[in-house]
Amino acid sequence: MTAKPRLVISTGAGISAESGIRTFRDADGLWEEYPVMDVASADGFARNPALVHRFYNERRRALADVRPNRAHEILHELERDFDVYVITQNVDDLHERAGSTKVLHLHGELLKVRALDDENLTWAVGTDTETTPETRIDGHRVRPHIVFFQEAVPMFEPATQLAAEADIFVIIGTSLVVYPAAALLHYVRRGVPVYYIDPNPGEVPDGVTVIRKKATEGMAELAEILRHKYL
Ligand code: OAD
Repeated sequence: MTAKPRLVISTGAGISAESGIRTFRDADGLWEEYPVMDVASADGFARNPALVHRFYNERRRALADVRPNRAHEILHELERDFDVYVITQNVDDLHERAGSTKVLHLHGELLKVRALDDENLTWAVGTDTETTPETRIDGHRVRPHIVFFQEAVPMFEPATQLAAEADIFVIIGTSLVVYPAAALLHYVRRGVPVYYIDPNPGEVPDGVTVIRKKATEGMAELAEILRHKYL
């Protein structure tokens, strides 16, 4: 038996749009009515931690009302024939809920909190968990497990490794404006086919096959292409 082709998929907010989670750049710099830098930056958190806790409590609660869509499901189904790795900028858990088994979260996870004094100490929480700046777990004050703007992206290094080992690389639903995530493409080996599904795609180098469609429709089309071309 030959090894399955390694399919590395980089996803952004657009893949969750059809599940009812709003994207960032489609909302004029507001994230659910809040200025992004108030709720998603290290400065914003230092200025008003209570607001930031409240904001992520709301985002976490909203996860209870959404479901994975067909695009998430197809990524899971592709595991039968491909060695699929998902690298997501999303903080929702829709890839996991759709069944994807190898998911790397570049920007953190809503369903985790972490110790303020130790970024490697995290705890899983439920959609109904509410935290405040005073909340303590095992004696540690906690914060949302989110990579804020102005902070390092610890999972970037392993993500570049995955990108470099891809036999096929796919980008879905990201504006490609937030770094370092947008730079992952540059780690893909020369000659490796790259596909980009987005109804309003950002700029990509020549040679990338752009599928100008929403994630559900674009993924259905791409799954057909992948099975015909690479199996
Ligand atoms: P953006 O909001 O910047 O981009 C969303 C992309 O999804 C755009 O290119 C849209 O055209 C596309 N899109 C919209 N609807 C779609 C659909 N139905 N199917 C497919 N694509 C669709 O989101 P990201 O690129 O993910 O960081 O943003 C990157 C980071 O910026 C986020 O991870 C977040 C944010 O600040 C943190 O939270 C740390």
